[in-house]
This record gives sequence, C-alpha cells and structure tokens, in this order.
Amino acid sequence: MKHECECDVDRRKLLIGASAVAAGALVMSNSIAGFVSNAQASGVTKYPYKKLDEQEVGRIAYETYFTKFCAETTITGLFQPLAKSVGEPYASFPLGSLFWAHGGMMGWGTACGTLIGTGMAIGLITSGDATKVTTPKGRAPVPVGDAIINDVIAYYANESLPKYVPAAGKEQYKVKNQSVSDTPLCHVSVGKWMKKEDVKFFGIERKERCARISADIAMYTAKLLNEWAAGTYKPRNEPLANALNNGITSQTNCGECHGANVPTAKS
Ligand code: HEC
Repeated sequence: MKHECECDVDRRKLLIGASAVAAGALVMSNSIAGFVSNAQASGVTKYPYKKLDEQEVGRIAYETYFTKFCAETTITGLFQPLAKSVGEPYASFPLGSLFWAHGGMMGWGTACGTLIGTGMAIGLITSGDATKVTTPKGRAPVPVGDAIINDVIAYYANESLPKYVPAAGKEQYKVKNQSVSDTPLCHVSVGKWMKKEDVKFFGIERKERCARISADIAMYTAKLLNEWAAGTYKPRNEPLANALNNGITSQTNCGECHGANVPTAKS
C-alpha cells in the first residue's frame, strides 16, 4: 500500500493529461479545471486534518449505512465532519466513488468494505506524512499511515464486534451476538456472525450488524487519526506480520480453509 507513490503518479498523469487537453485548445470541464488549479498550487491535493469527535463519526457512519452500505459509509463518517470543520477538499470529495466496495467488493465477499472506506480516508489524510514507524519488533518500518491502516484491520479481525450501540430509538433490530472474525474478509466475518445470530444475509438483522460495525471501524479510525494528529500515535500491531510470518499474504485463520493440512509456502 504505497499511497504516496500511487497518488503522485496518478496526479501527475492527470496534470499531464490536462495540459495536453489545454494545448489542444479543447474545453476543460469546470471540475477538472478546478482540480488542476488546486493540485498545481501545492503539487498535490492535501487533506488537512482536524481532530474528530468519535461519537459523531460513529453516529454518521451508523445512520449512513442503511442507504450507502459499508465502504461509502465509513469514509462518510470521517469526511462529513471534516467537510464542516475544514471544508475543501473534503466538501467536494466524491464519496459515492467508494460505493462499489460494499459486500466485500460488489458482493464478492473479499475485504470488508468498512476497511476500504477508512483505508482510503487514512491514505488521503496521512499520505503527506513520510514518517516511518516501527513496532518493538521493528521488522518492517512502514509509513505511519500504513501502520494506522494495519491497526484498524487488526482491530476488525481481533475484536468482538459489533460494539456500537445506536442511540435510543435508532436501532432497527436488537443485535444479540458479537463475533470475532479473525480476518478482514467480508464473507468469513459476516458468515461467522450470521451463524451465531442464526439469521439470513438479506435481512434487517444482518444490515443492523454491518451498520454497527461501520460505526465501530470509523470510530476506531478517528481515534487513531486523533492520536496521529496529536503526535501520540504508536502502532499496536506489527506491519506485514502475516506475510512475513507465513511466506504468503495471509490472515491468521489458516485452518478454517486448509483444515489440518496447512501448506508451507516456498521460501
Ligand atoms: C480463506 C481461505 C484460506 C485461508 C484462511 C488460508 N488459505 Fe492458503 N490457500 C487457500 C486456497 C483456496 C489456496 C489455493 C490452494 C489450491 O489451489 O490447492 C491457498 C493456497 C495456499 C498456499 C500456496 C499453495 C501451496 O500448497 O503452497 C500456501 C502456502 C497457503 N495457502 C498457506 C496458507 C497459510 C499459512 C494460511 C494461514 C496463515 C492460509 N493459507 C490461510 C485458502 C486459504
């Protein structure tokens, strides 16, 4: 996840593309023209951060879920308050550009969309901070934003969720169970909870659970970003630990798919 490099390359491509268009005396749309002038002023669009109120982030994420689903929802929980406190570029950020990631990307059950939404937000907010951080093990120093995303993913995988309880009168279903997913995979995470709760996927029960998890993930992200902004953030988890430990990109739940015969990766 090299946000900086990828962002820079994309922006450069856009700038080159835009100047080629201008040279060709073609009409640029207002939005592209505005974006280019913004980007040219500073070289790259910055997303200045102001301390977030975690409760407000959770409330917005919870409420947005029922129409926007998991991915657009978590970034909305973070960006809507920042659009108020900071303004641009949050105010005009196309939140809907992340809608597709719901259901672990259009229902394919891969990475939970809550993490794609917050990962995007963390990437945009922290990409200007090149500080590399390590954990006590110090195996893989990574940019601070990557460490924050890694901690949010670990929180998703390791905690009993959902924790969030909506304000009185807001809930659409009274969730009985929490579950630990052991993985950021939508399919496995929601499947474990559905089994425990004994409910189907296409129903308000499961939606209520995912709405609450959206709030949990957006709130935890806000908590870590607040620490980062205050200069007190320290990574909780070893970045890239799974890949380094297992010799293959992975989670920690090997036996759930491989049973007793977990293959050993070539080294
Ligand atoms: C979500 C299901 C799932 C989980 C969890 C999972 N795997 Fe796999 N893994 C697979 C599948 C499917 C393949 C492809 C296997 C095949 O085609 O035979 C694979 C392939 C592999 C391979 C390469 C094939 C080989 O035989 O060398 C390795 C190594 C591997 N897994 C190790 C692990 C380890 C270690 C873990 C836990 C850290 C893990 N896997 C967790 C599903 C999973």
